[in-house]
Amino acid sequence: MNQAVASEKPTAIDASTWRKRYADIIAPVYYQYSDLVVDHAQGTHLYTVDSRDVLDFGSGIAVTNLGHGHPAVVAAAHAQLDRLWHTSVTSLHPRLIEAAERLVNVTPKGLDQAFFTNSGAEAVESALKLARRATGRSEIIAFYGAFHGRTYGALTLTASNPRYHRNIGPFLPGVHHVRYPYCLHTCAHTSDEPCPIAEGEDIERLFKTVVPADSVAAIMVEPILGEGGYVVPPARFMPRLREICDEHGILLVADEVQSGLARTGKMFAVDHVGVLPDIMCVAKALGNGMPVAAIVAKRELMARWERGEHGTTYGGNAVACSAAIAVIDTIVRDNLCERSARLGKRVMEQLASWRPLFPEIIDIRGRGLMIGIEFMRDGKPAGELVDAIQKRALELGVLLLTCGVEHNVVRLIPPITTSETDLERGLDMLQTAIKETR
Ligand SMILES: Cc1ncc(COP(=O)(O)O)c(C=O)c1O
Repeated sequence: MNQAVASEKPTAIDASTWRKRYADIIAPVYYQYSDLVVDHAQGTHLYTVDSRDVLDFGSGIAVTNLGHGHPAVVAAAHAQLDRLWHTSVTSLHPRLIEAAERLVNVTPKGLDQAFFTNSGAEAVESALKLARRATGRSEIIAFYGAFHGRTYGALTLTASNPRYHRNIGPFLPGVHHVRYPYCLHTCAHTSDEPCPIAEGEDIERLFKTVVPADSVAAIMVEPILGEGGYVVPPARFMPRLREICDEHGILLVADEVQSGLARTGKMFAVDHVGVLPDIMCVAKALGNGMPVAAIVAKRELMARWERGEHGTTYGGNAVACSAAIAVIDTIVRDNLCERSARLGKRVMEQLASWRPLFPEIIDIRGRGLMIGIEFMRDGKPAGELVDAIQKRALELGVLLLTCGVEHNVVRLIPPITTSETDLERGLDMLQTAIKETR
């Protein structure tokens, strides 16, 4: 990191004063996983104003996949800052074109054009609009447990927490939810039997009872459920959705906002199952902290929008695009998909060895470095235990996030560049936190 920043003394204002000022001036609706006051950060380390050095195993919610202050991204953004920041729709600029080329290069073959936005929710909105516009149909199918963002369209699809919907309706018409194959809780079949939900039973029932299949514009899906609990569906699920979509002329939209860009051990989660979506939403890790997101889709599909029917002021900002270029180049050059898969396998093996020690752990799942640990006690979701674990782990020195509709899943999403020593240290702290709180 910039030596000048590292050697600067943290500000003289103490953490509790910052917290008081925060509480006074920032809308309380903004949920925070911790009250750390971070002065600067490097790699997996958060350095607070009160001189704490905390391991960041949340990556700003799956954003800083390359770690804080990655030199290639910092250099690219710095260089662009001195050159050009912004044009929007007034003119073209090279970084916009290069960022789109890089993105299209790493998304599944067949997705060949990009449209940039500033956030995941806006990417989801763009996908919804494109799906309705291109098919001329109104209905959208989404899944219980899904999180797609907080804008009205994305929020209507989101079904991971009723609090998000309290007293702010009505929502977007035409959205229907079905179950996500979260076999641990939703299914009664044995591990050898096919999962009826993954086979599309709920969607077929919806078609027979409520929604004619030929009125459905899109099925929006997270290939691995994120906020809903880091659930990896059966391998059949995504291919079956593809079949259903093909059979009825429905567009398959993969929301890879959280699972994308090497997080799962492949560039995108759909790469694990070889499914080509019609539209893919990408955000979070794309800028490693710079606000940049996109949808990527087939050229013929993008051509269904008439010029000017959709747009954005900041989407494709030159500094954000230069960060995205550096992110994609670094993932490819440094084999970060392979690193994520390798480290993830190690973490999963280590977590599996804890199972006999902690009967409250009822499931360990994930792909690459997108890992969830689910806790139950006395047959009930152990949300309070998970909160206590998170709190104790933070005292010990590792920042963890949680997830799950029942709030009973610890999610591990450290930067993919985390050193093996830091990974080990973070897991040790987690193990101690579980031991001390259960
Ligand atoms: C899968 C998924 N989609 C969409 C979003 C919304 O992204 P943003 O917060 O950038 O609007 C998120 C954010 O957590 C997400 O996890």
